[in-house]
Amino acid sequence: MSELPQYFNDISNDLEALLSQWMAADQSDITGAEKKLRLAMADAVLAGGKRLRPGLCVATADMFGVERSISLILGGATELIHAYSLVHDDLPAMDDSPLRRGRPSIHKAHDEATAILVGDALQAKAFEKLADETLDLPADVKIALVRLLAEAAGACGMVGGQMIDMTPDQALESEKDIRHLQALKTGAMIEVAIEMGAVAGGATTNEIATLKKFGQDLGFAFQIIDDLLDHNGDEASMGKPVGQDNANDKPTFVEVFGEDKAKFRVDALIQSATAHVESFGERADPLVQLAHYVRERTH
Ligand code: IPE
Ligand code: IPE
Ligand code: MG
Ligand code: MG
Ligand code: MG
Repeated sequence: MSELPQYFNDISNDLEALLSQWMAADQSDITGAEKKLRLAMADAVLAGGKRLRPGLCVATADMFGVERSISLILGGATELIHAYSLVHDDLPAMDDSPLRRGRPSIHKAHDEATAILVGDALQAKAFEKLADETLDLPADVKIALVRLLAEAAGACGMVGGQMIDMTPDQALESEKDIRHLQALKTGAMIEVAIEMGAVAGGATTNEIATLKKFGQDLGFAFQIIDDLLDHNGDEASMGKPVGQDNANDKPTFVEVFGEDKAKFRVDALIQSATAHVESFGERADPLVQLAHYVRERTH
């Protein structure tokens, strides 16, 4: 299964419409520098991408009967944070990458200051959308979602992981070290997308804990595949440069333990992830399908 199942393509299409609406609403009645910023934000958000995090969020919310009009907003918020993280990840001060999602990176299409500000503004917008009065959830649930997303995006999550990733003199030798880095850098946002869907649906503490374990295994597998694709994928299908991790001496699972062990670990993680959600029966079928897609993905 190297293509996303139809179930997720449908979510992706609805999400695309919502993100376009959010970006268009921002562009009315402005000119000059402000318009330039908002067009660059739209470039960062509407340039495709697999929309994995919203897919996970909506699929989990579906398990608990949450209306799509609600879960798409939660998924959209996770995608805004993700899009911002990619814009900053590509900056010269970080991975210095000229290509993203098959197009010039935001700092190339525009300039560095704009790319920094695009990231800042997208992050703020994610929280604006969760707090918006049109999101039809009780206030205490909305506050819980804001807190969860803030934790996952911040120093104890994605940004903390990016900091470790950007500190090459910090020796990462054990699998535990690499797993910690990747749990923060990539895992936190994948896990929280799932958790937000479950929390919005009133899942029990046990159900949330089980789903988070699925998210942790999937997140680690997802980043190892990203590293494998950097190692032996091709730029045209990835839409971003390859061979960068080796060139930049990045502490990835593949660079430290080699390709064979990485593939073996991915298989074990996908098996473990799907075993975690077996107790949900057919309700978890989309999550299981997505886990298989993650293993087979080629971009
Ligand atoms: C890329 O994420 C960055 C990582 C966390 C590995 P994705 O592979 O989900 O990127 P898009 O959203 O599909 O472009
Ligand atoms: C970035 O990881 C993860 C983020 C938090 C953005 P990578 O640096 O490996 O992502 P790519 O390969 O550039 O998409
Ligand atoms: Mg990076
Ligand atoms: Mg990068
Ligand atoms: Mg990568």
